[in-house]
Amino acid sequence: MSDLQDRMKQAVAAAATEQIKSGMVVGLGSGSTAALMIQALGAKLKSGELSDVVGVTTSFQGEVLAAELGIPLKSLNAIERIDLAIDGADEVDPAFQLIKGGGACHVQEKLVAVRAERFVVVVDSTKLVDTLNLSFLLPVEVLPGAWRQVQAQLAAMGGDAQLRMAVKKAGPVVTDQGNLVLDVKFAAGISDPAELEAAINNLPGVLENGLFVNITDQVLVGEIVDGEPRVR
Ligand code: 5RP
Repeated sequence: MSDLQDRMKQAVAAAATEQIKSGMVVGLGSGSTAALMIQALGAKLKSGELSDVVGVTTSFQGEVLAAELGIPLKSLNAIERIDLAIDGADEVDPAFQLIKGGGACHVQEKLVAVRAERFVVVVDSTKLVDTLNLSFLLPVEVLPGAWRQVQAQLAAMGGDAQLRMAVKKAGPVVTDQGNLVLDVKFAAGISDPAELEAAINNLPGVLENGLFVNITDQVLVGEIVDGEPRVR
């Protein structure tokens, strides 16, 4: 990550943390931008600026970080509501439709996002696109025993799906749920995210795909203006 991108992420994470109030149940997203938000929340709880906040994490990585910072956590099954969820994204289009799952966490991220009263997305300006999937592949979580079948079905829908491999191709990436991820490219991009989200999720063997459609309430964008980070 470049230093500029890092500064944009810092700024936008700090701005999002301002929306967290004492007593809230907060969905804690995954990825590097959400991690900065979790750190900022931990610091506010430690200093006493905030109190009685409960976090609901969306990944094992986020759970470890939040626990290290002393943020009280509850599972989705143990809470009655989520007041606010804050998460990053891999692509954001002008209608606030998203591609997520670059960190293979989109199953839990979507569960938390749809449950939240308010879903706020934190991105740096490099994530803004006109059409989804032209530059970032669409993640699809699949049952291990079904990945080739789903790959073939995605091909029939016009998608080139590749199994996500770990660094140095040591083996496939395995999700927190023990499944695999196909990364899919539709050559012309995604023109109807709602239709595609439903069609992919309808394939047997698919757990969830990374299209987040009509869920987002606000997108906070970190950018650099005159050499300084700014949030809009
Ligand atoms: C993980 C995600 C992340 O939110 C997304 O990949 C953005 O990550 P980062 O803030 O590191 O750019 O969807 O599954």
